[in-house]
Amino acid sequence: MKNPLRLSLAGGIAILVAAGSLLLHAEAGAAEFAREAVLKPCSTCHSDRFLSGPYEEWKNSTHKDLVNADDPRSPARRDVCVSCHTAQGFAEGKTKTAEIPNPLPQTCVACHSIENHGKVPAYVRLYGRITLPDKVTIANAGTGAVCMACHNSRRDVTDDDIYKDQGAPHGSPQADMLKGSGALEVAGYRYANSVHTTIENGCVTCHMAQPLAGAEKVVGSHTFKVSSKAPNGEIQNTNACVGCHRKVEAFNRPAVGDFDGDKAIESVQDEVKGLLEVVKKAVEERIDGGKGGTFADSHGKVVFKGKDGKNIKPESVPKAQYIAGYNYFFVLNDKSNGIHNTSYAVQLLQSSYQNLAGKPVPNAYIR
Ligand code: HEC
Ligand code: HEC
Ligand code: HEC
Ligand code: HEC
Ligand code: HEC
Ligand code: HEC
Repeated sequence: MKNPLRLSLAGGIAILVAAGSLLLHAEAGAAEFAREAVLKPCSTCHSDRFLSGPYEEWKNSTHKDLVNADDPRSPARRDVCVSCHTAQGFAEGKTKTAEIPNPLPQTCVACHSIENHGKVPAYVRLYGRITLPDKVTIANAGTGAVCMACHNSRRDVTDDDIYKDQGAPHGSPQADMLKGSGALEVAGYRYANSVHTTIENGCVTCHMAQPLAGAEKVVGSHTFKVSSKAPNGEIQNTNACVGCHRKVEAFNRPAVGDFDGDKAIESVQDEVKGLLEVVKKAVEERIDGGKGGTFADSHGKVVFKGKDGKNIKPESVPKAQYIAGYNYFFVLNDKSNGIHNTSYAVQLLQSSYQNLAGKPVPNAYIR
């Protein structure tokens, strides 16, 4: 029996209502978690045995930490950031840090909702339909919808103000990448998507797959990791892939062509890393009217600097340069190096290069 409480708690509506008010009354320091504090709202009804598996895994996930917990400017302590960076902001809709004296990270209650008990699979807070910041809707995200509510670019590329502000995609554009939208697409270029766009339950199917034998609590399930840099070498949870790709020993699948034009057909991830370098170099060479410089993803903006280290004014940055910079960070910040959506990642980088340089990536297989 999966849930030993199922019988004893049948018809627990009254308890459900009462428990709602217990939500998040957990007292915990910023980054310190007593097991007690994290499990409290759930353990008012559920047994320890039911909760301990997910808890032990979750403890090994980055969701147990607040980003930059010790920094007074941590996103857990800024009004505009708490909607994703604290459980209270996400689960209870609190928008002011003043209402969140003890910010908690992505705890059980962030993703699971007591109100949704019995309504949707795994009783996740958000299920099925989700709209991304650029108003693109994913109708069938399944349990992955709850991930996508936080793991998105935070930018609306359909709003022309983005060119004025020179916004950068947030460090988490995975939902946009998986869907194949939300980047600054080059006019006239035709973009395609990987079959991964249609995977049932999206993120959850790969990131919460059963762990490989021997790698329990290291990858898979509530660690949310598909890979881990364990002390004895990297572990890749190929259980995330084998349901569909019969022969997968590692994520680094051979690419169908030489996307970066280095005259060798490597794996998808290495081709995408190579292409990121090609685009980066092409941008850097053209900064400051061809004098050269650097660019960075800084405080939510793509910032271009000349060789003298001074910021170039946004209005002096050619549009093609900004587009290439945005798309570079879109692919980089996605962090899967092309696995989430190979076609979209490769095409974004190749089209950004062509738009900037006036010619396709030299020697490359163009998608
Ligand atoms: C008010 C009591 C109550 C609280 C609080 C509660 N649950 Fe539940 N939960 C239940 C009951 C009752 C069931 C089984 C009945 C059912 O399937 O609807 C259940 C079932 C579940 C299931 C499905 C298990 C299965 O095998 O199908 C999950 C997952 C779950 N709860 C997670 C949580 C999490 C996580 C929390 C804390 C955020 C939580 N619950 C808090 C009462 C509660
Ligand atoms: C980041 C989101 C997220 C967080 C945080 C999270 N869960 Fe889950 N949980 C899920 C999703 C999604 C599923 C469905 C997994 C699947 O379908 O394979 C799930 C499934 C479950 C289940 C069903 C049985 C199982 O193991 O698959 C239980 C029980 C559960 N969670 C308890 C917890 C507890 C306890 C915590 C806190 C320690 C927690 N969850 C934290 C997203 C989350
Ligand atoms: C409430 C917002 C929120 C939700 C919901 C959420 N995440 Fe996260 N996730 C974060 C934040 C914030 C971080 C960064 C945590 C850190 O670095 O301390 C993160 C980190 C991660 C990481 C680790 C990245 C790394 O660099 O190691 C993975 C993988 C991940 N999330 C996957 C998921 C999946 C899968 C789901 C859905 C089941 C999910 N997340 C739901 C906010 C969220
Ligand atoms: C829409 C949800 C959302 C909002 C709002 C949000 N973040 Fe994040 N942020 C995330 C997620 C998800 C991650 C984890 C990304 C990953 O690990 O891939 C993250 C990661 C980060 C990181 C870790 C570095 C990185 O880029 O991976 C920093 C720093 C950060 N956010 C700062 C902020 C600040 C500052 C704000 C407010 C101005 C903010 N965030 C608002 C979702 C959000
Ligand atoms: C087809 C399976 C698959 C799907 C679907 C998927 N991912 Fe991934 N994800 C991966 C792989 C593989 C990597 C690369 C891991 C590596 O190179 O070690 C990755 C990397 C990541 C990372 C960076 C992790 C790190 O350790 O740096 C985050 C965060 C992430 N994915 C979140 C998500 C979210 C959120 C979704 C849903 C919008 C999603 N993923 C959908 C397979 C998947
Ligand atoms: C739900 C099924 C499903 C899952 C799970 C899945 N894939 Fe795929 N993937 C496909 C299908 C179907 C294709 C398109 C046909 C092909 O290329 O084999 C594809 C395509 C790809 C491509 C793109 C090749 C290209 O050039 O377009 C890569 C890379 C890839 N998968 C890697 C992975 C990895 C790594 C995992 C596990 C982390 C994974 N996939 C999990 C179904 C899946």
